[in-house]
Amino acid sequence: MATTQKPRLALRRAIAIAAVGIAGNAFAHGDVTPQAVDVTSLKPLGDEWLESNPYRGDQEAIRVGTSAFNQNCARCHGIGAVSGGIAPDLRYLPVEDEGDEIFIMRIRNGATRNGRVYMPPFEGILQQEAMWAIRAYLETVHVE
Ligand code: HEC
Repeated sequence: MATTQKPRLALRRAIAIAAVGIAGNAFAHGDVTPQAVDVTSLKPLGDEWLESNPYRGDQEAIRVGTSAFNQNCARCHGIGAVSGGIAPDLRYLPVEDEGDEIFIMRIRNGATRNGRVYMPPFEGILQQEAMWAIRAYLETVHVE
């Protein structure tokens, strides 16, 4: 399975990708430094936002999504999506379309309450392809 990638390897890759150059505005969210995700190996999705995951069960998307999750989400949601308690444990997101809807709404918009950013929005930072790849990965670690 693609879930065995070592965090250190993912980190080295993140640094390599960052060195190639990511948009300056990617650093606009204070302490959050999103990492660019290479989605060239995935089927392009176009500009329309999809409501369900076109990559569900796709091995390559799961591989890309594992690394993208570790680079962009794990610092709050935990390595392997096992939450340390600060942010929700994403292993419990419902499977299939129900979870897809919650997922895409939240990753695009983030979560802000009373002017405090609990989770930054990723729309305009991660490509739609990267988002659904992360979702494909999350479904592989789902627990009931
Ligand atoms: C800065 C910390 C932080 C980062 C980085 C972050 N999140 Fe979150 N996320 C949160 C918090 C906190 C919440 C809960 C928000 C709330 O209660 O309103 C949350 C909620 C969610 C939810 C909704 C969970 C539910 O049960 O309703 C999803 C899905 C999610 N995050 C996915 C992601 C993904 C995917 C990434 C990476 C691209 C990510 N998050 C990055 C902190 C973060």
